[in-house]
Amino acid sequence: MRSFEYWVPTRIQFGRGAEEKTAEEVQRLGAKRVLIVSGGASARRSGLLDRIEEQLKGAGIAAVTFEGAQPNPRLSHAKEGVRRAIEFGAGLILAVGGGSAIDTAKGIAHGAANPGVDLWEFWTGRAKVEKSLPVGVVLTISAAGSETSDSAVLTDEASGQKRGLSTPFNRPAFAIMDPALTLTLPPWQVKCGVVDILMHTLDRYFNPVQDNQLTDAIAEALLRTVLRCGRIAAADPTDYEAMSELMWAGSLSHNGLTGLGGVKDFAPHQLGHELSARFDVAHGASLSAVWGGWARFCLPSDPGRFARLGREVFGLTGADERALAEQAIGAMVGYFAEIGMPTCFSELGIGVQSEEQMASMARAVTYDGARRVGSFVSLGEEEILAIYRLCNH
Ligand code: NZQ
Ligand code: ZN
Repeated sequence: MRSFEYWVPTRIQFGRGAEEKTAEEVQRLGAKRVLIVSGGASARRSGLLDRIEEQLKGAGIAAVTFEGAQPNPRLSHAKEGVRRAIEFGAGLILAVGGGSAIDTAKGIAHGAANPGVDLWEFWTGRAKVEKSLPVGVVLTISAAGSETSDSAVLTDEASGQKRGLSTPFNRPAFAIMDPALTLTLPPWQVKCGVVDILMHTLDRYFNPVQDNQLTDAIAEALLRTVLRCGRIAAADPTDYEAMSELMWAGSLSHNGLTGLGGVKDFAPHQLGHELSARFDVAHGASLSAVWGGWARFCLPSDPGRFARLGREVFGLTGADERALAEQAIGAMVGYFAEIGMPTCFSELGIGVQSEEQMASMARAVTYDGARRVGSFVSLGEEEILAIYRLCNH
């Protein structure tokens, strides 16, 4: 086992009725004034927001609600939230929703604790988060894993950039995880979530350090569970058993556990973020659309790793590593297709792209030549363009 640092301080309340423990968790942190951050309309429509507001009020906690975080959450909206949080004197930011509400809440927490800093400076790396407000979460969708992750992703609509920020200050203080709250999800969002959960582990599993046996075994168990439960949930999003497994998997897949000792790759995520930034496509859909191209491009570098995925996760057999690797990629892409997720640009709904557009996307992924992405295979502009071409049908 290689060296690693693992710090996941989020207190988790998991299971039916966990929602009722929200005020208790806020009180445990000593917060008296809370800014509730939510998404478009789903949490209001389901009655959840009203219940949370009532619960806090009943516990003597002052709260105001800031709604409107949209998928691929916008920087300008987070900045508006910072103004609200400061004006209200919030001591805790409570996200009620999914990755978009949670990441907005994380941004607001950093901005409110550092009023002199332009929020985007944290995302560009020009400023470092050294203090923040605590963030609590009431989770309504199993997908991004933001409820325990150290990451937050925002889109600056002015520059068209979608960027992630990793810092220990992004780890929420608590997460209320009641799978029953996810049973109102439309099938499309469930499927996007399934892909994202798979990808948070795949983007760790494919990395150059491969002698962390327990980490690999945990990763493979998670992938098998998500593939099985994802298939059930995609067909019936009201299946509590499947949805509850997905909820826990979503957190474990992105809090670091499934990659301990390794070096994060996350190249498919970077390629997908560029598609979301340009075409505002759902995060999970952007990932399934690029993964097959990425995998085919990377296969020659390490067929053995793909073959292992085939054996351990898909139960494939055979002695020919190269053939197994190809079958494993086929099985993964086939799974995306089976549950109705896009596996190329046209299925993603953005159409076949021009060479010029793909070259511009590849350049943007490298921050105009300032970085390479991926650890399993290091990708520069040329390699990224080659991958986009493989997805371009
Ligand atoms: O906005 P509302 O009306 O709430 O509707 C949402 C939204 O349309 C809906 N929804 C959520 N819970 C629901 C529900 N509809 C019915 N019933 C419910 N219980 O689902 C839609 C998607 O919500 P969103 O929060 O956008 O989903 P997700 O959790 O997938 O978050 C996606 C965002 O997180 C980022 C993504 O890039 C994207 O911006 N990510 C954040 C990460 C992190 N912070 O660690 C890691 C990920 O890799 C990802 O990049
Ligand atoms: Zn993701």
